[in-house]
Order: sequence, then structure tokens, then C-alpha cells
Amino acid sequence: MVSAMLNGAIAITCPKGLGFPGFNLHCRPIHRPNSVTASPTPRLSVATRCSVSVSSRPLAQPRFIQHKKEAYWFYRFLSIVYDFLRQMHHTEDMRDAFLEPADLSHPDLRVVDVGGGSGFTTLGIVKTVNAKNVTLLDLSPHQLAKAKEKEALKECNFLEGDAEDIPFPTDYADRYVSAGSIDYWPEPQRGIREAYRVLKVGGKACVIGPLYPTFWLSRFFADVWILFPKEEEYVDWFTKAGFKDVLFKTIAPKWYRGVRRHGLVMGCSVTGVKPASGDSPLQIGPKEEDVEKPVNNGFVFLGRFLLGTLAAAWYLVIPIYMWIKDKIVPKGQPI
Ligand SMILES: C[S@@+](CC[C@H](N)C(=O)[O-])C[C@H]1O[C@@H](n2cnc3c(N)ncnc32)[C@H](O)[C@@H]1O
Repeated sequence: MVSAMLNGAIAITCPKGLGFPGFNLHCRPIHRPNSVTASPTPRLSVATRCSVSVSSRPLAQPRFIQHKKEAYWFYRFLSIVYDFLRQMHHTEDMRDAFLEPADLSHPDLRVVDVGGGSGFTTLGIVKTVNAKNVTLLDLSPHQLAKAKEKEALKECNFLEGDAEDIPFPTDYADRYVSAGSIDYWPEPQRGIREAYRVLKVGGKACVIGPLYPTFWLSRFFADVWILFPKEEEYVDWFTKAGFKDVLFKTIAPKWYRGVRRHGLVMGCSVTGVKPASGDSPLQIGPKEEDVEKPVNNGFVFLGRFLLGTLAAAWYLVIPIYMWIKDKIVPKGQPI
């Protein structure tokens, strides 16, 4: 893979025990020299306008819901059926495999689950970590309300807030987890920088998210909806933020069968370790978007919101189509 070559990555076979029967899994460590300055893109050391320096891709693609207000309203409605629809893309086995590199083995770890939503990933975290030590942060109060209903999460802490501006002090948490949320952040690099800041030295961040589809139609709908990052973008964000020992792992639903012919649906888990206490070495300017700000033009907002939501619907059609195909096409053949 081109990105793997760019990043000097080595493909490795995951040890037994990381594999689960229900899905495909590939993981590889991203070998980098010791310093973030060795990244192919020079480390930023002066404050710059984030629209120029931080955005990973041109803003030309609309990505109508990759904005805070839009994400807020998207989840205002989606939260009603989120737990039901989520099962099409993300199963418990997949979640546990995604979380495995986060190394959540000790009950006393202090964990922040950013974009924790209705608590599906948090349910995986509290299997091993004491719920009292876990905080779910999300910008949607409606999603958080769903999480609060879950018995296993009763003792967790719940916080309404923004992934790009986490209301915790520097060097606060042992683990930072964020699943399926980075796709909605207007400035993912800023969010990863925050992950670095809130972690203690030696703490680990684990960001779980989608991958840019390989099929043109899926790419089109992705680009209208939200940001589906590329492998090299994830790795770059981690590296620029200052993380070390960056590990990239992909996981797909069981009907994936190893070929991304339909450009779908593969997720990844990216982990990195904070090597020194304090703030991230990456300096960036002020936030581009604030969810508190009123919407300027209601009609434009509504149009964007509806188009983005329609594009998202494609990602409900595909799992159903692929599930049916998986039943029909003889086992062993790519679908
Ligand atoms: C696909 S859901 C994932 C929820 C949960 N992590 C899970 O695994 O099911 C994405 C969540 O990210 C939240 N989100 C989007 N943008 C955010 C931001 N800037 N800050 C905090 N949460 C955000 C949404 O409100 C939503 O609950």
C-alpha cells in the first residue's frame, strides 16, 4: 500500500488472540524515527491558521455534516435509532478488536471516551476498567442521554463538550479513546492534538474511525456526508501531534472477505503513546468552528443538513446489499 510505503510501515501478521472469527483484521506498526520532526511533512512549530496548516484535505469537498452544528442536529435525530442502525456496521466483536491495542487491562485506569455517544464503545471499556474512572464526552446531549440509560454505564461520568477543546487539564488521563467520532470533527488534527494534551506521559490514545472508500460511488457519498480519512492522514495526525509507537490496525465486518471491491466498509484503530508530559509540540491557531455560535443562514444550513443526511443513507444501503451478497455468493469467492 502506498501509504504504508510512505510511512515506512511494515505489514505484520497479528498474533493469534488478536484475531476474531467474525471479521478480518490486519495490523501494522508504523515505524518512525524517534522524533516527530522526522515525519515526511515538517513539524509545525509556529502558530498558523489551521485552515491552511491543519486541514488534511482541501475544503472543496462539501462533507456537509463534518461540522459541529450539523453533527449536533444529525445526532439529535439519529440518536433515536442509533443503537439499532449501528449494528449494521459495528458489532461487539469488532469493537473489542478495535479496543484491543488501547490496552485497557487495568481497572484503575482513568479513561476519557471522546464522542462516546450512546456508549457502545464505553460498554467495551467498562468490561475491564472501573466505570467510575471513565468519562464519556460528547457534543450531543441526546446521545449522552441514551448512554445514561445503560445499566453498565450508570457509574460513568458524562460530560457535554467538544473533542477539539476537551474540558480536562493537561496530563489528566491514562487512556484516550474515541470511536466513530473523528469523521465529524471539522479539524481532526486539532482533536488528535487534544488527545495528546489530556493524556499523562506514557498514556495511550486509541482513535477508531472509518477509512476512505475505494469504490467511486461510496467515495462520492462519503465526500458529501463526512470525512472518511485515509490511512496516511490518521498516521500523520498522530505523528504531528507528537505521538510515538503509532500502530495502525484495520478491521472489517465478516462479509468483507478481504477485498474492498465495493469500497466498503472498513474501519481502523490507530494508537499512539505520549512520550513526554505537557502540551503537544504541535502549535495551532484558534478553533475554526464553535457549536455555540448561531447559524447564519437557516436555509443554507437546512439544505446542507438534508443533503448530508441523504448521502449518509447510502451507508445503510451498502451493508444490507453486502449482507445479501454474502449469503448468495459461494463462500471463498470475493464479493
Ligand atoms: C458514530 S457516533 C459514535 C458513538 C460511540 N463512540 C460509539 O462507538 O458508538 C459519533 C459521536 O461523535 C459525536 N461527536 C461528533 N462531533 C463531535 C465533537 N466535535 N465533539 C464531541 N463529540 C462529537 C456525536 O455526537 C456522536 O455521538
